[in-house]
Amino acid sequence: SRSYEYIQISTPKPGVGQVTLNRPKALNALCTPLIKELNEALNGFNASDDTSVIILTGSQKAFAAGADIKEMAPLTFSEAYTKSFIESWSLLTTQIKKPIIAAVSGHALGGGCELAMMCDLIYCTETANFGQPEIKLGTIPGAGGSQRLTRAIGKAKAMELILTGKPFTGAEAERWGVAARTFPTYEALMEETLRTAETIAGYSRVAIMACKEVVNKSQDLPLRDGVEFERRVFHSLFGSQDQKVGMKAFAEKNKAEWTHS
Ligand code: CAA
Repeated sequence: SRSYEYIQISTPKPGVGQVTLNRPKALNALCTPLIKELNEALNGFNASDDTSVIILTGSQKAFAAGADIKEMAPLTFSEAYTKSFIESWSLLTTQIKKPIIAAVSGHALGGGCELAMMCDLIYCTETANFGQPEIKLGTIPGAGGSQRLTRAIGKAKAMELILTGKPFTGAEAERWGVAARTFPTYEALMEETLRTAETIAGYSRVAIMACKEVVNKSQDLPLRDGVEFERRVFHSLFGSQDQKVGMKAFAEKNKAEWTHS
């Protein structure tokens, strides 16, 4: 398989694909070539019949310290506009149908915070350092931060954080609903992230992907439309083999042997 310069990929458990951002000298700053590799790796896991869930992580010190400031510094409006700078980051939210768990330790600033928020689930250390510091650079969040942070924690807190550029901790991220769980150590974070990934990978891939799709729809649709959408997808799952497998196994007190179809 292909070898990467800025990331590492692995399969820590059956059904679990992992992408580890690996640009330590720049605290995993998200330069364009890194995003290209990330997208390639995510596309690979998305297409693979051996993968049900994906972990995205960095190092103990940094999940990612943001977009690459040195790459952005000389950009002009026309270059950014005509090349749709940052748009390719959205592949994670538009093309990847399998759930992605972000395991965040250390810095998750600017684009790093935004990348974590694009994932389906965030686990982090209590001391993780989240924030949208773009204002300090004379700019604004550009990868969804103003939208996703505001939806996650409400306008009052999001406005304060984005206008001041002040960081917030992993513990705060959990309290405010950005992160699902926090852990006291890096080791516990990685261990529990893997445990959750294994739990998910133990289910039917059809149902896993449908769960991701319907929960994420709640962020885009008004409630009535969202409930309608959910019901349609729920109905469609009666057409899957694994709905029969799962319910039959329950009735017979057996363990379900998923077919992933
Ligand atoms: N881009 C490019 N390089 C970066 C970087 C970034 N976002 N963050 C860190 N680096 C580089 C530093 O320049 C430094 O490189 P050199 O050794 O060559 O000088 C190296 O990584 C280590 O960084 P520090 O020496 O600064 O490490 P520190 O431990 O003292 O500080 C930090 C850590 C607080 C995270 C600090 O590096 C920092 O503030 N980084 C920038 C954070 C930021 O502003 N992110 C938002 C970027 S804008 C954005 O993301 C736009 C968007 O919405 C898409």
